[in-house]
Amino acid sequence: MDNNMMKALWERANEARKNSYSPYSNYAVGAALLCKSGKIYTGANIENASFSVTNCAERTAFFKAISEGEKEFEAIAVAGGKAGEDSSGDCTPCGVCRQVMVEFCGDSFRAIVQKNGQPTDMTLGELLPLAFRSESMEG
Ligand code: THU
Repeated sequence: MDNNMMKALWERANEARKNSYSPYSNYAVGAALLCKSGKIYTGANIENASFSVTNCAERTAFFKAISEGEKEFEAIAVAGGKAGEDSSGDCTPCGVCRQVMVEFCGDSFRAIVQKNGQPTDMTLGELLPLAFRSESMEG
């Protein structure tokens, strides 16, 4: 993935933050998922008064893409920060989202995460080493 695409994904993730529904945490997250088809699906975090029902931005983007028939994925960008403000600080996918990524992506899947407010290029293998996958059950 070239630098222009990385920058474009990062911008889409920041735009997607505007649709965050986060009245409880006031922390708005946006994600932009690039599929191998070339299509980009965005997502935002969607909270709930029953807190555990909350869906993270990354899973929103993945579930949108998968439910539209996408099967292969190239990269995701994630941006987060106080709602109504520019993204800032660190924002990296939570453990549940990493496990969802592992279900559909290999170790080389790229994750552009936010460190110190800046996009930082990582791989899924770095984010979740020794992941448990369906192959793990084959022994
Ligand atoms: N959140 C995400 O959407 N993605 C992340 O990578 C980290 C956390 C959301 C969940 C919740 O709505 C809010 O951020 C605070 O945890």
